[in-house]
Amino acid sequence: MIYFDHAASSWPKPEQVIFTLTQFLRENGANPGRGNHKMAAIASEAIYATRVKIAKLLNVQNPNQIVFFMNTTQALNQAIKGFLKKGDHVITSHLEHNSVRRPLEYLRKELGIEITYVKPNEQSKLQLKEIENAIQSNTRLFVFSHASNVLGTIQPIKEIGAIAKKNGIAFLVDAAQTVGRYQIDVKEMNIDLLAFPGHKALLGPQGVGGLYINPSIELSPLIHGGTGNQSEKIDQPKASPNRYESGTLNTVGIVGLGAGIDYIEQQGIEKLKNREWQLTQYLLKGLEQIPQVKWYGPDLHIERVPVVSLQIEGHDSNEVATVLDSHYQIAVRSGFHCAPLAHEICHTESSGLVRVSLGHTNTEKEIDTLLNALKEIISLMM
Ligand SMILES: Cc1ncc(COP(=O)(O)O)c(C=O)c1O
Repeated sequence: MIYFDHAASSWPKPEQVIFTLTQFLRENGANPGRGNHKMAAIASEAIYATRVKIAKLLNVQNPNQIVFFMNTTQALNQAIKGFLKKGDHVITSHLEHNSVRRPLEYLRKELGIEITYVKPNEQSKLQLKEIENAIQSNTRLFVFSHASNVLGTIQPIKEIGAIAKKNGIAFLVDAAQTVGRYQIDVKEMNIDLLAFPGHKALLGPQGVGGLYINPSIELSPLIHGGTGNQSEKIDQPKASPNRYESGTLNTVGIVGLGAGIDYIEQQGIEKLKNREWQLTQYLLKGLEQIPQVKWYGPDLHIERVPVVSLQIEGHDSNEVATVLDSHYQIAVRSGFHCAPLAHEICHTESSGLVRVSLGHTNTEKEIDTLLNALKEIISLMM
């Protein structure tokens, strides 16, 4: 199988991730923070070790401000529903995943919050002026993804963070497509809340993600109880991470995530990113040679995350992806990628797009196989 669906979940995982989590599972199944015995203490330490690694990656001083959830969606829900109150206004964009849009629209119905969706320019880049012009006296939150999972566009997060800071507005970043791939410094970028997956560019297993919470922010927890400490108290603990981590954590997954971060650091984040960019340009240049293929997102020379969405003119994306899978053993993602407003911008709201998302382990040869498959499909369909 040729795997081009890294934007959904990365695969294959580094051998050291598989080895580390398997070894941990074999040697220690204790519940972290639920006992005074040695095995429970080792499990707690293993979780803390991954917290430290993520904190270092994001330039967070106190690792306890990193909170684990199952995925980015849960982290985004905690941030959005835990922060916004009745009467608040939030600014977001047409490029957001429904993990952002749905909780916001839910709060619009439930609490009457106001939402402004700003549109990107023709290069799918957010416009700082548009964001500034949308600010109202009750604007409390900006929510933007660092990079689009449909178009690959990298957004000017640092500049948006500066606007947020200047106006006293909290800034939530959906880093699903960038954490582990791009250097993120929450201090320098003025990010107050950052949601991330463990199973994409961080190369960990599924079932782990998290949220960075600036110490000045106290969110209302979405889930209560099961914190394993302060059991005598009726109320949820105040301090992070216990305030937000209710119930037993995915210890094995978190240990695997720690091994994924080690791998990235050993290889060098810049080296991996440059390889992905090289492969992305190779793919885009190949697609340029096929006139019946239309690809979307920023121009060829503008850096993007390794995501290229395309269309064979006149053909439904699901049909093309099914043929790629069944006849060529090539895994891509079709449809709307959980971001229907992004498809409105591309005018692909009825056909969807075929998304090819690469990882540093892919090769030029695999891309050639895809390009030849697309040419063959076109010749058979015409
Ligand atoms: C931009 C973006 N946000 C949120 C998500 C949801 O991530 P998860 O599957 O970790 O919940 C994704 C997943 O692809 C994404 O690409």
